Amino acid sequence: MSHRLHADAVTLRYQARVISRDLSLAIPDGSFTAIVGPNACGKSTLLRALSRLLPPEKGQVVLDGKAITALPSREVARRLGLLPQSPNAPDGITVADLVARGRFPHQSFLRQWSPEDARATLAALEATGTADLAGRMVAELSGGQRQRVWIATALAQETPILLLDEPTTFLDIVHQVELLDLLARLNREGRTIVAVLHELNLAFRYATHLIAMRDGAVIAEGAPPEIVTAELIHQVFGLSALVMDDPLTGRPMIIPRARTAT
Ligand SMILES: Nc1ncnc2c1ncn2[C@@H]1O[C@H](COP(=O)(O)OP(=O)(O)OP(=O)(O)O)[C@@H](O)[C@H]1O
Ligand SMILES: [Mg+2]
Repeated sequence: MSHRLHADAVTLRYQARVISRDLSLAIPDGSFTAIVGPNACGKSTLLRALSRLLPPEKGQVVLDGKAITALPSREVARRLGLLPQSPNAPDGITVADLVARGRFPHQSFLRQWSPEDARATLAALEATGTADLAGRMVAELSGGQRQRVWIATALAQETPILLLDEPTTFLDIVHQVELLDLLARLNREGRTIVAVLHELNLAFRYATHLIAMRDGAVIAEGAPPEIVTAELIHQVFGLSALVMDDPLTGRPMIIPRARTAT
């Protein structure tokens, strides 16, 4: 198994607060990796480090064999796209203009807006069902509409690796399933997908690789059917739960019972 993207013994901190110490993990190429764990355990912090936004205090994140901090940001942005947890749109921007910004890493002084950029932007709008919103102001959208527009922006970047921090928040159940189906299709077509998800049963259903985190550390990783147990759910979330086979897919699913002390 090869890994274009991995973190080697990284220590991640904000000023005095250490979030992860000596954390190592590797994203399997071609995987649909889901990261799960309780609030504040360091999932977004990890995604920031993997996407070069947060330089590790120790250790390094490696992309294609080089320390990611040593790569020019445009180079990183062509290989890896990030949907942050709470992105901010510039004031007064339309949906079409925001999604078109996903194409910036592919442009340069000599190679400005091209038919290729127009094609990628339109494809991203269509894939996320936001083409009919193209002329609207981003600020005037509903939470779920805006979330899908942000996903379109990340898709328009057309990177081989896509990191998404809670892409399903704000989405109704139909749009959640649609989005995960879309990510699964992109994954089958060859993209590596990494998504932080709170909907555990959907995460277990769609992920080919699962990373379970707690307190800034990886508690377990592997294919969901191999690692999801009542014991793991208890360890990670402090939750007593029944683990059964999803009758539809045979993948693991949980039914929460009660909060337990850990
Ligand atoms: N910019 C920051 N400055 C200082 N502390 C931060 C900053 N961002 C996050 N933290 C802290 O780092 C810890 C991990 O936060 P992080 O956002 O990585 O959690 P998370 O696992 O993504 O949680 P959630 O599920 O709520 O999104 C938290 O205690 C948080 O308060
Ligand atoms: Mg987060």
